[in-house]
Amino acid sequence: MDRLVIEGGVRLAGEVAVSGAKNATLPILTAALLTAEPLTVSNVPHLRDVTTMLNLLAQMGVAVSMDERLGVELTAARIAEPVAPYELVKTMRASVLVLGPLTARCGEARVSLPGGCAIGLRPVDQHLKGLQAMGAEVAIEHGYISVRAKRLKGARIRMDLVTVTGTENIMMAATLADGTTVIENAAREPEVVDLAHCLNAMGARVQGAGSDVITIEGADRLHGARYRVMPDRIETGTFLVAAAATGGSIRLTGARPDVLDAVREKLREPGAHVTTGPDWIALETNGALSAVNVRTAPYPGFPTDMQAQFMALDSIARGTALVTETVFENRFMHVQELKRLGADIEVEGNNAVVKGVAHLDGATVMATDLRASASLVLAGLIARGTTTVDRVYHLDRGYERIEEKLSKLGARIRRVR
Ligand code: EPZ
Repeated sequence: MDRLVIEGGVRLAGEVAVSGAKNATLPILTAALLTAEPLTVSNVPHLRDVTTMLNLLAQMGVAVSMDERLGVELTAARIAEPVAPYELVKTMRASVLVLGPLTARCGEARVSLPGGCAIGLRPVDQHLKGLQAMGAEVAIEHGYISVRAKRLKGARIRMDLVTVTGTENIMMAATLADGTTVIENAAREPEVVDLAHCLNAMGARVQGAGSDVITIEGADRLHGARYRVMPDRIETGTFLVAAAATGGSIRLTGARPDVLDAVREKLREPGAHVTTGPDWIALETNGALSAVNVRTAPYPGFPTDMQAQFMALDSIARGTALVTETVFENRFMHVQELKRLGADIEVEGNNAVVKGVAHLDGATVMATDLRASASLVLAGLIARGTTTVDRVYHLDRGYERIEEKLSKLGARIRRVR
């Protein structure tokens, strides 16, 4: 297993380009299942989860080709196997995103129940409720979700809770349904909007994405399209926090400042200076930052995917911070590891109280999930001495060449096979 070895104490400085958004790419790739014509997707990040999704689609019979600039062409002329097997789903829960498109295109789907993961049980009851409301028969047998529907029918669906991939699955299924579907209490994440834009480029009629009511008028078929994925707002936020935590200054190009309001606000509060342009964000720090409270919430609230990174920042900030996680039930796995580096953090239920300490001290720590591993890398950049982060495959799922990008900013970080 790869590990990252980091020598802390360097102030990051320089410019780095943001990659395409993982959580927009994954649903957009599954949208190819909705048409027999080619869907060409550009700005695809080179990530383990993307490779996993491409393998899953190829296994179903989708023709997949990549060009040298990481553009991907997918053609689902015929879907031989509308099945997502356990071996693949257990490595990436987002595989559940094939459920809606397969049911809409083939009238059937068999998808392994995605197991839980480090951050929570991660049920998919809302995905299934939506498909049932559209007339699908849903059964769960031998750890697989089986869905059948001659043709889905438009329906009015009120989600019991805000779910990003739940909203995306139902939105995709509805594009080929008979009639109009209205999703109420829909997720408003920018990645949902990016998917809606791609679906509309394919001839779908989706309106209201980005609000909590999305209306989809079903069509008989969709056609191919070319679509460029939006930049990754969580990668952007992660690098901004890395610069703030190391007392450095950074400029991120190819970014979308407009989808990072909550994060930008939470960087200004402790004292970082954030400036933006149409497609760039810059951050400078002068002196130590003060502690900042964060409370995660669905978009446009503070993103749960940025919670672990801010906890690393707060671990050496002046004062005490309260970090509250409201989206997932177990997303504090990074706390134990941060404490091994000398952080002073007490967890009470879904609250963590972080008391800033003068410095962290390098140690060997273990990554448990994608964003927890990012937080450990940030802590390693701050800590005195050497920090080794084990199980870096968690990091590779969501960050493209992170050690190369950080090295470009001056970090002393290397990957050890
Ligand atoms: C998406 O996961 C993201 N993944 C996650 O990013 C992100 O953390 C999460 O949204 C929240 O923003 C992708 O987009 C591929 P949810 P998702 O359904 O859709 C509960 C990362 O780091 N729930 O919005 O799986 C669920 O348990 C990943 O890139 C149900 O109870 O999250 C959770 O507590 C991690 N029933 C809450 O809702 C359901 O049917 C929000 O989950 C669905 C969800």
